[in-house]
Amino acid sequence: MRSSLDEEAIGILKANDRGGFTVPTARLYPYQWNWDSAFAALGFAEFDRDRAWREIETLFEAQWPDGMVPHIVFRQNDPDYFPGPAIWQSNTEPPSSGHSQPPVTASIVLRLVESGGTADIERARALFDRMLAFHRWFHAMRDPEDTGLVGIIHPWESGRDNCPDWDIGMDRIVVPDDLGPYQRRDTEHIDPAERPSAEQYDRYLTIIKFGRECGWDHVEMARNGPFYMGDPGVQFILMRADRDLLRLAELLGERSAQSEIAHWLERARDGCQLLWNPAVNAFCARDLRTREFSDGITSASMLAFYAGAGSDEQRDAMAAHARRILDDVEFGFPSFDPTHPRFESKRYWRGPVWAIINFLIVDGLNNAGETELADRIKADTRRLIETAGFYEYFDPRTGEGLGGADFTWTAAVHLVWGSGSTNSQAA
Ligand code: DGY
Repeated sequence: MRSSLDEEAIGILKANDRGGFTVPTARLYPYQWNWDSAFAALGFAEFDRDRAWREIETLFEAQWPDGMVPHIVFRQNDPDYFPGPAIWQSNTEPPSSGHSQPPVTASIVLRLVESGGTADIERARALFDRMLAFHRWFHAMRDPEDTGLVGIIHPWESGRDNCPDWDIGMDRIVVPDDLGPYQRRDTEHIDPAERPSAEQYDRYLTIIKFGRECGWDHVEMARNGPFYMGDPGVQFILMRADRDLLRLAELLGERSAQSEIAHWLERARDGCQLLWNPAVNAFCARDLRTREFSDGITSASMLAFYAGAGSDEQRDAMAAHARRILDDVEFGFPSFDPTHPRFESKRYWRGPVWAIINFLIVDGLNNAGETELADRIKADTRRLIETAGFYEYFDPRTGEGLGGADFTWTAAVHLVWGSGSTNSQAA
């Protein structure tokens, strides 16, 4: 028996369906976004498994010849969004943005396989080489020196666009005189107080200009681009996705891939230690050019559990931070430490709560045996959705819904947690 909230969530996924791919929300984000689509697939799997697979397949149709799966796929030109295909100039078909996003797809494909039957195994088999190429791209292009730690070349690649994590890297970007005028569209749809600042947008576009001018040469971007930082979010999500891809390789009998993936996992176990900030006693973002650490703990720091990363002592320290942070807010988990001076409770990734990050944190905490913390964060997420609705993000102090309404991935998290058929591994 479905509740009215379940029906509403299903209605949101259907309304945001553009025929094989789903937009995160109408107008604000009118294209297909990489990790949004992966979460959309999880939501669809609760009532239409064929449609769930289509979501992932259409995303991989936009894969670049070098293996990258881009962060936005532009199937049509939509004046509601800036920066569109003409700014990125990807020279790909379909046109896309020029960098990637947290690679959650392999983990979501594994969930579909483990909760499904032979039809699901065949759909996963057809995607396996593409997923492997995507992971290979991340390791080669985002860690060209093979340190075991991947970097990101744009804050948007983290999916946590304007988090204070990136302030040290963003401050070093010199905005060129010939950047040219441009018109943002996001602040026409959403209160500017809930979105990134004008100074941040100038820097976002400076990175895109560099990428465009070097023809999106990704090794050049990692070595000499305006921005290159280590992100606990992408690092931990990739570690978990590598583990899940290895499991898929075993299930599918893909023997030749297994040693390559095992090697990535081994390197990453050391590599993630480069993100341990002893001054804060936590995993933090780090500028990979200057080696300077960000001094803030974020919701992405808590994905150490999701990756199974770090020593027992490090995980105990992270759990203690999690308790302290949760005690400071009404609704967890805030995207930035609420006791830090840079915390802002309403501005996009500088404080608000995101249901999908909570979903990943809860999965990791449950796997680590931290069930009390996991239950608390899950209950907070439910309260937020029940009282405010399916918003993009939420104020951790007041619970107010912020950003876009009727948001695909918030609806998807509700469905997966609500009905329980595909959440067996997360439970
Ligand atoms: C945006 O436009 O704000 C997106 O988050 C970029 O991916």
